[in-house]
Amino acid sequence: MQDSFEGRTAVVTGASRGIGLAVARHWHEQGGNVVLTARTAEAAEAAAATLGERALGFGAHVTNQDRAQACLETTLERFGRIDLLVNNAGTNPAFGPVVEQDHGRFAKLMDVNLWGPVLWTSLAWRLWMRDNGGAVVNVASLGGLAVSPDLGLYHVSKAALIHLTRQLALELAPGVRVNAVAPGVVRTRLAEALWKENEADVNAVTPLGRIGEPLDVAELVVFLASRSASWITGETVLVDGGQLLTGSAVEPVGA
Ligand SMILES: NC(=O)c1ccc[n+]([C@@H]2O[C@H](COP(=O)([O-])OP(=O)(O)OC[C@H]3O[C@@H](n4cnc5c(N)ncnc54)[C@H](OP(=O)(O)O)[C@@H]3O)[C@@H](O)[C@H]2O)c1
Repeated sequence: MQDSFEGRTAVVTGASRGIGLAVARHWHEQGGNVVLTARTAEAAEAAAATLGERALGFGAHVTNQDRAQACLETTLERFGRIDLLVNNAGTNPAFGPVVEQDHGRFAKLMDVNLWGPVLWTSLAWRLWMRDNGGAVVNVASLGGLAVSPDLGLYHVSKAALIHLTRQLALELAPGVRVNAVAPGVVRTRLAEALWKENEADVNAVTPLGRIGEPLDVAELVVFLASRSASWITGETVLVDGGQLLTGSAVEPVGA
């Protein structure tokens, strides 16, 4: 990649580990400033400390508007600009058939996976991007393009995030590009039930022969934020080693 990120600033939600941390690290390694969030300041700051200079940790539950606003204002005070927002924080409290869920799990899932991206994008727009431009990348999922027996509500939230990406791309053009990535099974804590006990099975249904690593997703996110992607908006790009091609939904161990 020819782009330089020196002097440019990214905010990555849910970056204390996993895909978010890999995105933050990859951006930072190429010279960018980065703000990493997590639910607690301790976790966010610990992750930022592993990157060093030009990295700031900030505690903000992704649905907390006051913390979101404070995070983005702090980003502007510290680094002077917000070039990239990565809506990465996500959760899945709702395993099992959709008809067996309750409102508590539904509300938490939709709040974190959908309202979070709406909230952070709206604030980034108002505070900086409306006047100065920028890019937003949402972390959706292969599941947003497929159905499977036990991850239904999570997949509904990611399908909605893919649609939200298209909607926001229309609303925020021409100054702000909004895209999404749709990872398959990636080696992180959130997805442990999908791979930890059966990595060989995951590899077997993956045409490219291996589980995803957080860096596989991070490289795509950073590409979508780069000038090389300057005519791409509203798009969702699969990064799944071909898992969707096999048509076999990846299910939690024991399902
Ligand atoms: N791994 C996969 O196979 C896979 C596949 C498709 C899509 N995804 C998506 O990728 C994204 C990242 O997931 P991951 O796999 O990297 O999971 P992970 O390793 O469990 O990391 C999740 C991150 O989100 C943070 N977080 C969780 N809830 C939060 C909240 N309410 N507010 C703020 N931060 C929160 C966590 O930090 P704290 O716990 O410190 O707060 C952590 O940094 C999610 O949107 C997920 O749906 C993952």
